[in-house]
Order: sequence, then C-alpha cells, then structure tokens
Amino acid sequence: MVEALTAAEVERRIGAFAALLMDAVDSGASIGFVPPLSEAEARRYWHSVIAAQREGRRVVLGVVENDAVIGSVQLDLEMRANGNHRAEAMKLFVHRSARRRGLARALMAALEDEARRLGRTLILMDTRKGGEAEKLCDSLGYTRWGEVPDYARNADGRLHATVFYFRRLG
Ligand SMILES: CC(C)(COP(=O)(O)OP(=O)(O)OC[C@H]1O[C@@H](n2cnc3c(N)ncnc32)[C@H](O)[C@@H]1OP(=O)(O)O)[C@@H](O)C(=O)NCCC(=O)NCCS
Repeated sequence: MVEALTAAEVERRIGAFAALLMDAVDSGASIGFVPPLSEAEARRYWHSVIAAQREGRRVVLGVVENDAVIGSVQLDLEMRANGNHRAEAMKLFVHRSARRRGLARALMAALEDEARRLGRTLILMDTRKGGEAEKLCDSLGYTRWGEVPDYARNADGRLHATVFYFRRLG
C-alpha cells in the first residue's frame, strides 16, 4: 500500500501531490506553510522535492488510491560525512478523508524500513506541540528530547511550540 516513489513518479503525479499538500495546509497542519496555499506554490514545493530526490538526498513515500495521493512522508538524508548515518522524517501528511485508518503508522513503518535499507540508523522528527502527530510520535516510541517555544507560526498567525524527537533504529 505504501510505495517509494521515484522523482519521475512524483513528477507524473505532481497535481495529486499538490492537492494533498493543499489539503494538509487547509487542515491547519504546521508543515512549513500558512494557508491559503496556492496550487502554483504547492507545485513549486514538489518541484523542489523532486530536485532533492534527483540529488539523492530525499526519499518520498506515498499511498496512491484511485490516482489520488492520500498520504505521504519524506526521508531527508543527511549528506555530510559525519552525519550520513542519520535522516529526518518530514512532511508526514494524510488526506483528511483518509485519516484514522492507520495510514500514518504505515507510512512511518515504511519510512523506517527504507532508512534501514539505506544504512540510516538514527531518525529525527519534529512536530507541533499539541497536534495529532505528537500523539503519533509518542505512540510509535520516539524519544522526545526537547521542546522549543514559539518555534513556528500557526494558521491563525500565533506562534506555537515544537517538540523534537529521535529514534535509533535497531
Ligand atoms: C498526523 C497525521 C499524519 C495522522 O495521520 P493518520 O493516518 O490519521 O494517523 P493514524 O491513523 O496512523 O493514527 C496513528 C496514531 O496517531 C495518533 N493520532 C492520529 N490522529 C489523531 C487525532 N486526531 N487525535 C488523537 N490522536 C491521533 C493516535 O495515537 C493514532 O493511533 P490510534 O488510531 O491507534 O489511536 C494526520 O492527522 C495529518 O496529516 N495531520 C496534518 C499534518 C500534520 O500535522 N503532520 C505532522 C507533521 S510532522
């Protein structure tokens, strides 16, 4: 169900990836953007992801259903020599119509498999304090190592805290 998508596959489905990102931003997710996010901006973002994939520093995992992308997560590979055992899980989102079906759990399990396959033994992740993903990280057994107040801006313009996690892969 979860598949690793190549740069060419993401490019071919860029409209569906843009729609997924716009849905997440509209839902109030703290994923680097504030609403409203235009389709042009969403597509620009995915073009930057495709470029990172082509440079070999990003893995994109997705769940495709009837030509729609209903969930996605990325693994950003640290490229510096002293950190090439670690990677960051980022931009985890599931379409509002498909939430609470275990897709985020499945995406994170696939991401960890992919990290292991690539020899990455340490995963980092951060998320908004009080958001759904905080409960997910706690329930997946990630270690919470810190919290920074006023880290990012909410959809309503107010600043909120971010929680930072890590997980060692055995
Ligand atoms: C966070 C998000 C990815 C979860 O996706 P999902 O597919 O609905 O999650 P799952 O069904 O796999 O749920 C896994 C666990 O996460 C937690 N969780 C997910 N949504 C939750 C909610 N609305 N309230 C409370 N806990 C929640 C629960 O612990 C859940 O386990 P359970 O169903 O056994 O109780 C999704 O809500 C989303 O896309 N949110 C917006 C984007 C975002 O905030 N991304 C995080 C950036 S790091």
